[in-house]
Amino acid sequence: MKLMVVGGAGYIGSHTVRQLLAAGHEAVVLDNLSSGHAQALPEGVPLVQADLLDPAGVKAALEAHQPDAVIHFAALIEVGESMRAPGRYYRNNVVGSLNLLQAIVETRKVPLVFSSTAAVYGTTDAVPIPEDAPLHPESVYGETKLMTENMIHAFHVAHGLPYIVLRYFNVCGAAPGGDIGEAHPNKTHLIELACLTALGQREKMMIFGDDYPTPDGTCIRDYVHVQDLADAHVLAVEALQRGQANAATYNVGLGHGFSVREVLDAVDAVTGKPLTREVAPRRAGDPPRLVAGARRIVDELGFQPQFTDLQEIVRTAWEWHRKHPHGFGQ
Ligand code: UFG
Repeated sequence: MKLMVVGGAGYIGSHTVRQLLAAGHEAVVLDNLSSGHAQALPEGVPLVQADLLDPAGVKAALEAHQPDAVIHFAALIEVGESMRAPGRYYRNNVVGSLNLLQAIVETRKVPLVFSSTAAVYGTTDAVPIPEDAPLHPESVYGETKLMTENMIHAFHVAHGLPYIVLRYFNVCGAAPGGDIGEAHPNKTHLIELACLTALGQREKMMIFGDDYPTPDGTCIRDYVHVQDLADAHVLAVEALQRGQANAATYNVGLGHGFSVREVLDAVDAVTGKPLTREVAPRRAGDPPRLVAGARRIVDELGFQPQFTDLQEIVRTAWEWHRKHPHGFGQ
């Protein structure tokens, strides 16, 4: 198949492009490069530098490249920033996605796989969280993802657009080999920060709260390796092509979690440099435990995560950061 990967120069998008090629598919990337990196793309993959806020440009790209399906990653992703700059988030994530949907139904009406997030669930007592749990996003970021899920479904009902929504838990790690990886302009993710701290770029790691109702008092998250997540997208587009799983929503996670302390212990073990840690107050909006109900995608799409060992996951992230201490800048 030929896939148009929107946001394909970003962290998850670039790993997905690789896994698509490895599975024998063809990819063309559409990205505005606001946070993505052209260097993250394999040689020979065409890059259309266009913005979803330019509907004519998006339509022209679809008409020029005639993809068999679209995978949509392009979004602003920072929870904290979304609360300070909601307009940017609604415009980029919701209006941008609307332009993409409109362009798809006006051109080829090809299937769509959409990047959503566990943030659509908000704080919940459910452990693990099933896909049919109530949806109460607590951030503007989560709200923009839920609004987009709802728009996609409306286009499915009205225009017959086939789709799959994937709701990611905590994405981490890097492709083995360490040549592509996480390189966000603002660093907030635990494993990335811990690796950069181990490299001496920061003095210490803050643990945001150690008084949560969890065994060691720190928050528990479901850490899914980016290459496994990329494989989930390959499975999703292939299912839609076969006419399966149309209008389905899947969590993507391992189905079990690790605490902040367990993650930091794994980073210490992998890097051999024990991190200085300091307990800080809780971070606003952090639920104690977020773990995916992860059976549906295993049962229906045959998803088989390869990276289930925390140290193995951290080792891939460490390899990337060690080889590229300043991301794609060097
Ligand atoms: N944490 C620290 N210290 C740090 C950074 C993080 O203690 O320096 C803690 C956080 O408080 C949290 C855990 O580590 O308990 C993980 O934090 P991340 O920032 O790495 O990830 P989040 O769980 O906040 O969010 C991520 C994505 C969201 C997504 C969510 C779903 O960024 O988009 O996972 O589980 F919605």
